[in-house]
Amino acid sequence: MSAQKLLIRDLAQVASPAGLDAPLRGAALRDIEVTTDGFVLCEDGRISAVGSMADLPALDDDVEEVDGSGLSAIPGLVDCHTHACFAGDRVEEFSLRAGGASYEELHARGGGILSTVRATRAASPEELGGTLAEHVGWMRHAGTTTFEAKSGYGLDHDTELAQLRAVSDAGGVATWLGAHTVPPEFADRGADAYVEFLVEDVLPEAAQIAEAADVFLERGAFDATQAGRYLAACGAAGLALRLHGDQFTESGAIPLAIELGARSVDHLEATGEAGAAALAASDVTGVLLPASALFLNRPMPPARALIDAGAAVALATDFNPGSAFCESLPLVCSLAATQLTMAPEEALTACTVNAAHVLDRADRKGRLAPGYDADVVLVAADDWRHLAYHLGGPVVETVIAGGEIAWERSA
Ligand code: NIG
Ligand code: FE
Repeated sequence: MSAQKLLIRDLAQVASPAGLDAPLRGAALRDIEVTTDGFVLCEDGRISAVGSMADLPALDDDVEEVDGSGLSAIPGLVDCHTHACFAGDRVEEFSLRAGGASYEELHARGGGILSTVRATRAASPEELGGTLAEHVGWMRHAGTTTFEAKSGYGLDHDTELAQLRAVSDAGGVATWLGAHTVPPEFADRGADAYVEFLVEDVLPEAAQIAEAADVFLERGAFDATQAGRYLAACGAAGLALRLHGDQFTESGAIPLAIELGARSVDHLEATGEAGAAALAASDVTGVLLPASALFLNRPMPPARALIDAGAAVALATDFNPGSAFCESLPLVCSLAATQLTMAPEEALTACTVNAAHVLDRADRKGRLAPGYDADVVLVAADDWRHLAYHLGGPVVETVIAGGEIAWERSA
């Protein structure tokens, strides 16, 4: 059994979003507190003290020590938008897209999301859990200590619930994405009938497992009326609300998110000036997914306009087999810096405290401060900004989750 106390000592830097507020908006996104020659002390799974080595309190013998020399500590990363629970792969489709086929065309032809639905329906709960465990391991090695994952590859009663159970059993935050696309057995009856089926037959049980509901509001998926019907029912059942919106077209996701008091609207690659201004003036967090925009060769979301107008933004991977086969938040931070012109400080806030806010966990996740969960990533550099600077590099040295070493590069 591990020691109850864990001291990470002699760290070149300890970097954490300042203050206690969440979400951080606009200029406050840059506010990272950096302590040089620092320590982080963890006790019983929580952080009990953070400071400079000169102020390290006297400790008894029962303390496990981690040498942080040459390393920097940041909060464990929070991935607030993934589709990590899926079976199969889409490497064939990836090759077709490399040859010029578009994601939307493949989707319209019954490929895309629906090909992952076929694979996921064919997997047993054990197989699904095994594949998810592998994906969670990939995320952890990239520094993610808290993850959300959506259903949406079942689109029938049993498989949607199996996905949600697998996510919850794997320690993830489960989001019900029943309204991801219309499955083939509803092709004749249409999206309205499918939404009624979701609300009547799946929601009562989904609401027992999931914390939030999500919908793909887009041409070829669900329109604003159908999304509104689905989300209103989910909200009434106690779920937090999220939307995939403005990925390819502005189809009303931002106004609907604001009207319903949604937690977030995610993607925003097609968001124009008015949409960005409306979102910035609201309490809805904009979740930016630059790995998805890159993977599909789409325009990047208007991060600068949003932040400069005072929006709360988060960053996430969107890890999924079709539009973003990428589990790495450090890579997302590099994309944020190079493609979204976000400062490394803004990127760190966006995938720690603001992502924790999207998951309703900002009181205990996303900061290195007393009382927060002892989730710590040691970055393999004496300046924490290498997190974003080292594009695709081995920046994560050690991952500590709940006060215990969860992964070490050198082990
Ligand atoms: O966030 N666009 C909708 N859903 C996912 C992709 C799912 C898939 O292609 O399998 C997304 O990009
Ligand atoms: Fe997504």
